[in-house]
Amino acid sequence: MSAHTLSRRKLLQQSLLLSGALASGRALANNWPALSQPDLPATALANNEAYWESVSTFYKKATGTVNLEHGYWGKMSLPVEQSYIDLTKMVNQQLSYYARKDWYADAKAAVKAVANSLAVSADEIALTRNATEAMHNLLFQYKGIKPGDSLLWADIDYPAFQRTMSALAEQRGATGIEIALPAQASKQQLIDLYKAKIRTTPNLKLMLLTHASNQHGLILPVAEIAAYAKQHGVDVICDCAQSWGLIDFTLPALNVDWAVFNLHKWIGSPVGVGALYMRKGTLDKVAPYPGESDPDNTLVHKRVHMATSNFAAFLTVPDAIRFHEQVGPAAKMARLKYLRERWVTPARTMAHIEVLGATDDASASGMGAFRLAGQTRREQVNQLQQRLESEFGVFTVGRHDLASGSCIRVTPQIFTTLQEIDKLVDALGKLA
Ligand SMILES: Cc1ncc(COP(=O)(O)O)c(C=O)c1O
Repeated sequence: MSAHTLSRRKLLQQSLLLSGALASGRALANNWPALSQPDLPATALANNEAYWESVSTFYKKATGTVNLEHGYWGKMSLPVEQSYIDLTKMVNQQLSYYARKDWYADAKAAVKAVANSLAVSADEIALTRNATEAMHNLLFQYKGIKPGDSLLWADIDYPAFQRTMSALAEQRGATGIEIALPAQASKQQLIDLYKAKIRTTPNLKLMLLTHASNQHGLILPVAEIAAYAKQHGVDVICDCAQSWGLIDFTLPALNVDWAVFNLHKWIGSPVGVGALYMRKGTLDKVAPYPGESDPDNTLVHKRVHMATSNFAAFLTVPDAIRFHEQVGPAAKMARLKYLRERWVTPARTMAHIEVLGATDDASASGMGAFRLAGQTRREQVNQLQQRLESEFGVFTVGRHDLASGSCIRVTPQIFTTLQEIDKLVDALGKLA
């Protein structure tokens, strides 16, 4: 992959590093050959093997066991990895001299890249170390909860966030309520279920919506549910930790006031980068981080205290987003959904397999889940995960927080091959 590193950039970098001259992240901006994308709509690119083969040359894949567990965190492409290495070296050489002088402007460039990609304004975004940090800040600094209020979440939400919501309700004398969604659902079913719950929950104040569930990849119709919640005076926090980059969307289309993101999953940044979105005009409901001050309620970054963080990881963000956008967010979503369909379609014909999650295209993502019919217990699913790995060479993960029971989550990446998916299908057939 030496072609991915332009010699001009290398020369600049080396001369800056050798001379000890101050180098900002911007000065080290990486360049790599453009991906040659056929001039086709995203849906037509989904099964264009030549394109995805060319994309996969930008990644160094492990050999051996087939990894279908890409929901934990994402792989950096080689150009992004190279940026991260260069930026790490730069920060480690320049130390505080860099951080005191150039870091602030470089961090602003990272915020701007995030905001541009999500189609919002830079003063609505703050960087965080992960989605959890952004979620904690929103939840614990939210001023609206009184004793007797209700807080709502669902079984498909990120388990740690469900527990945090529950703890928050207890702390504030509020009632925590969980909505149990069906194991399989369509967009309209989800809208109907949430609307009924919003209508019938007394004193509902705050709810969590997970755009893409980490259990089975189900996509929630966030815009429709959030609009209904707003009509009923309910505040919504949207967890986009798993959705950004897995599916193609911009924030205005989600119609939420507050959302949390990860860049270290599907955007392919180094580990340690998340983001917080707060729509302009909504900051008064969420206090600044304890000890910070924002009298006019206009400064999103005052909701977070970043402390000393991985500078290089944040500096790599513009390159990570640039690479993600070159691959094409819509094409990426279409390819990942195509890869899910490739195992889900045959799996649905197997009486011994239960496929979970989306029953329609609108609720589907590239992430999916299944279990052996009727085997919903944690131990049964953990055993199945072991079998898939040791007997069939396919690595997945058990997820255990759906109301309907445990399941195996299957998550391909854009460099996953058709043969790798077929290996899973073959294994599924033999599990009978
Ligand atoms: C839906 C969802 N929300 C939140 C998180 C938490 O992400 P992080 O650990 O990076 O904060 C995850 C991580 O897997 C997730 O899938």
